[in-house]
Amino acid sequence: MQNKILELKSAFAAALAEASGAAALENLRVEYLGKKGHIASLMSELRFAEDKKAAGQLINDFKTEVTEAIERAVEELRAAAIAEKVRSAKKYNPTLKMHEELGSYHPITLATREVEDIFISMGFTIENYDEIVDDYKCFEALNIPKHHPARDMQDTYYLDNGQLLKTHTSAAQNYIMKKYGAPLRAIFPGRCFRNESTDACHENTFFQMEGMMIDENISISNLIYFMKTMLSEVFQRDVKVRLRPGFFPFVEPGFELDINCEICGGEGCPSCKNSGWLELCPCGMIHPNVLREGGIDTEKYSGFAFGLGLTRLAMMKYGVKDIRDFNSGSLKALSQFKSI
Ligand code: PHE
Repeated sequence: MQNKILELKSAFAAALAEASGAAALENLRVEYLGKKGHIASLMSELRFAEDKKAAGQLINDFKTEVTEAIERAVEELRAAAIAEKVRSAKKYNPTLKMHEELGSYHPITLATREVEDIFISMGFTIENYDEIVDDYKCFEALNIPKHHPARDMQDTYYLDNGQLLKTHTSAAQNYIMKKYGAPLRAIFPGRCFRNESTDACHENTFFQMEGMMIDENISISNLIYFMKTMLSEVFQRDVKVRLRPGFFPFVEPGFELDINCEICGGEGCPSCKNSGWLELCPCGMIHPNVLREGGIDTEKYSGFAFGLGLTRLAMMKYGVKDIRDFNSGSLKALSQFKSI
């Protein structure tokens, strides 16, 4: 029996050296370790052996040897396959040319930055504020109590917890008054939301830039001066504007500042609802109730506020006819602007 085992051992070693590939190894495994393999038949012959114990031990050792050798060979094969895959994979080449098409800024980003620069140069700070606000900030603190009809104009999206998506950047007025107190000069751009049916000049998501200046002796002439300076800087030329009375519960008096439609030159087109004018910057003197709510001494201070329609400004400045292009994600429409 011992001789037989030795013979099988050397036969196995030779066969293993010959075996190339997973299929050959599997055949070898079956040949030796399978139900009808050599080891099994050695076992069945064991009862004829003289020294059963020693022979049994030899068979077991041989079995372990075969098992381990085959496992090792399979493992080597797998490692070799991986190494080959890595070797033949495309190598990262740092000298390859990068894709040349860079992104571009969104026109609203460009318009925002431009207006920010103008106001920074006039001593205003830039503030950031939440998009989700509460009823108090968006309405109550702005002299719009519950059930006030002015709320109808600003229907928006409410969350289950009673908070809402802000309908105008004015929602930050109270916070900023409380943060800085008087005197203050601040602008705060932001995204606003309204439940609107959309058309060429209305969207449910749009950008505004609110501005506030509070100090001693602030009057309407300050307001008009700042608006005029801002517009002539943005457009780099004289643009026709008109000021007409407008009602907002948080200003008194309140105005609508309209700009001559730059798309049609005032003739009338879908972008300006055929009126030739576009409401660009509602504004007014901050209502004393709003100042008081913000903790400002109304005996000493007064101020103005404006809510510049940034999205509309970008439309006029860049000649974008349809407001919906801004949120469309259409690269054809949006990639024509200054690249990064
Ligand atoms: N928040 C107003 C709106 O979105 C605009 C506004 C701002 C009016 C500041 C007056 C003063 O309709």
